[in-house]
Amino acid sequence: MSVVFDKPVSEKSRKLAAGYMKVGIFGLGYVGTTSACCIASQGNSVLGFDINPEKVAQINSAIPPVREPGLDDLLKQARAESRIEATVSVDARINDLDVILVCVGTPSTADGSHDMSAIVHVTSQIAAAIDAKRKRKTPLTIAYRSTFRPGSMDKLVAPVFRATLGDDFARKVELVYNPEFLREASAIDDYFNPPKIVIGTADAKPSVNMEKLHAGIAAPVFHTGYREAEITKFVDNTWHAVKVAYANEIGRICQKLGISASKVHEIFVSDRKLNISPAYTRPGGAFGGSCLPKDVRALQHMSTDIGANTHLIDTLLRSNESHKLFQYEEATQGLAAGARVLLVGLAFKAETDDLRESPNLDIARRLLDAGYKLDIYDPGLDPARLVGCNLGYAYSYLPSLDALLIDKRAAESRTYDLVIATNATFKGLNVSASRTIDIGAIK
Ligand SMILES: NC(=O)c1ccc[n+]([C@@H]2O[C@H](COP(=O)([O-])OP(=O)(O)OC[C@H]3O[C@@H](n4cnc5c(N)ncnc54)[C@H](O)[C@@H]3O)[C@@H](O)[C@H]2O)c1
Repeated sequence: MSVVFDKPVSEKSRKLAAGYMKVGIFGLGYVGTTSACCIASQGNSVLGFDINPEKVAQINSAIPPVREPGLDDLLKQARAESRIEATVSVDARINDLDVILVCVGTPSTADGSHDMSAIVHVTSQIAAAIDAKRKRKTPLTIAYRSTFRPGSMDKLVAPVFRATLGDDFARKVELVYNPEFLREASAIDDYFNPPKIVIGTADAKPSVNMEKLHAGIAAPVFHTGYREAEITKFVDNTWHAVKVAYANEIGRICQKLGISASKVHEIFVSDRKLNISPAYTRPGGAFGGSCLPKDVRALQHMSTDIGANTHLIDTLLRSNESHKLFQYEEATQGLAAGARVLLVGLAFKAETDDLRESPNLDIARRLLDAGYKLDIYDPGLDPARLVGCNLGYAYSYLPSLDALLIDKRAAESRTYDLVIATNATFKGLNVSASRTIDIGAIK
């Protein structure tokens, strides 16, 4: 049975799809088969490709090659309507398609990197099968949904098309990176209700074909360059892993201490302001202040004491120390010996004079140790009013604190080689500098 490309769409499908499309799908595993069935259910026609003849035969017999709730029915319907066909041969038929989705596997290699051989293989096959002389209204869109390292679109995928189709390959094919967010066991619902849609293109501009393919799916859409799109899955999946590991470490601590982990969880997730929220997720300065380092350290101690083996929690302070060094090295890269530096904001945040464990003290100390001429501007700080631990901490790090602090007038009257802004204190300061770096927000 061949796919009928111009079969009228059902009422339900019409509601979902903005326009009929011919879609090729390479790799008929969990992602590819689910995508194929969902796309076909919207009234589109799908041509699936896989190197595994058994999977191809299963699809053509209306048997899903992967187990996924709801897939049976969708595939049966799609086959009954002649909307899906699968094949092992990559041939001239791909020139009839509007969009190709690449969903082949990228398993781990021995060193932990992704095995990109399937990506290289299908990319070469697609490039070779494209009829460069054939006139098309729009280029064939080839969207990669497999997860792979940022830079792969530019350094691996595009060069294959360039080598086969020439330097003007972008006139014939539109290359897109479109990460997939479906989860196995709820994949069909996730396909139609994704948390977001990310479309990475060469110029970060929208792709007409990808917009058409996603028509009827309500989700926030992000148009980016390739690399932001390529890294999305890594950022998401690693965050999910961090959440699970953290939850289990807290669970182990609770269990060892005879505390109800489920009650603790209920309290934790009820806090949508600081816990389950964007708070503390933006890359920027290291954490510091009087509470976070102290309490993390104490939890590490407690966990060791009770044998909870909390490896994730145990790494937090070391990670934070590494970040302080990273920020110092970034800020002073290429800075001449003896250069004049202004540090804006010494306390751990603006509008406080709490210097305890402020990462900015650490940067100031490093700058002085390296021999730079340092001024510090922090209008929230009056050394004469520092007391107790705060006083002790400040002067043990920076014995010359009084001499380093300058007022706004002095800061604005001098010329600096480098200004390091650490927080909102920098707003409203009119300073003359060869270079300014805001370490409170990594761009
Ligand atoms: N499984 C998930 O929940 C999920 C979710 C999002 C993203 N992803 C990513 O999507 C990609 C696919 O994942 P999957 O779980 O569907 O993998 P899978 O292993 O289930 O399927 C991959 C398919 O690709 C086929 N294949 C391999 N080489 C091929 C070639 N040269 N030509 C044609 N077909 C070929 C295989 O035979 C297999 O059927 C991976 O990069 C994965 O990281 C997976």
